[in-house]
Amino acid sequence: MSRMASTLFLSCLLLLTGCRHALAEPLPRIGIIGAGEMGGTLGRLWVNAGYSVFFASRHPQELKPLVSSLGPRAQAGSPLQAAQYGDVVVMAVPYGALPVLGKQLAGTLRGKVVLDVANPYPQRDGDIARQALQTGSGIYSARLFPGARWVRGFNSLAASSLAATAHQTGEEAVAVPLAGDDKGALDTVAQLTTAAGFTPVVVGGLAAAALFQPGGPLFLHTLTADELNHAIDR
Ligand SMILES: NC(=O)c1ccc[n+]([C@@H]2O[C@H](COP(=O)([O-])OP(=O)(O)OC[C@H]3O[C@@H](n4cnc5c(N)ncnc54)[C@H](OP(=O)(O)O)[C@@H]3O)[C@@H](O)[C@H]2O)c1
Repeated sequence: MSRMASTLFLSCLLLLTGCRHALAEPLPRIGIIGAGEMGGTLGRLWVNAGYSVFFASRHPQELKPLVSSLGPRAQAGSPLQAAQYGDVVVMAVPYGALPVLGKQLAGTLRGKVVLDVANPYPQRDGDIARQALQTGSGIYSARLFPGARWVRGFNSLAASSLAATAHQTGEEAVAVPLAGDDKGALDTVAQLTTAAGFTPVVVGGLAAAALFQPGGPLFLHTLTADELNHAIDR
């Protein structure tokens, strides 16, 4: 190849690579409300995967050590700021906090994808937890945030187990059951699940989230995708 031809070839290659880069979808921004065991663990996995994460709690100044340990893709502030920031917003607070957060944030979260990892425990969260377990926690949580594109997931696995098993490959890969009524929202959460290092398995609509809530047959079971599909008779 002549020198001019190879320069032309290289220029075209650079142009094409540049265009592909420019056309690539930007990663969704993630807001996480509740930055304890669960919010902190998930946020760390997503920051490590290249996502920008805004952590929130009632005491955001206490989140400085977490944010500094994660670097420039992490920041912290109020629940409202996290709800405004996130294309996807994760609810990682005690279940009893959801009704008040619903009143404060439902307007901001309307039309956004929300991943709900909160578990109702009557001994911790009181009567609302009993109601949620009876109704099905997916359906119950979603009603508190009308208009949000609600997905239940990650709630059936302990934060310590998520941290220890992320990015296992092949037959070792850990599955995360997901449930939701909005296909696009499920696709988005499935992508985030893969980015965090797990295999997403959609078990059904929001009503199916009862299968992996506290007391449900899939709760706290670390399974592969095959095992999970087998457990739900697929
Ligand atoms: N830990 C697990 O292994 C695990 C596994 C699956 C599901 N879950 C569920 O995930 C949720 C979080 O559990 P966790 O273990 O991460 O709890 P955690 O370590 O106690 O963290 C809770 C976080 O929520 C914040 N928070 C509490 N009330 C709030 C409110 N009203 N508004 C905004 N932020 C609030 C807390 O900060 P401030 O108090 O400073 O506001 C803290 O950052 C729970 O529903 C739990 O059942 C936990």
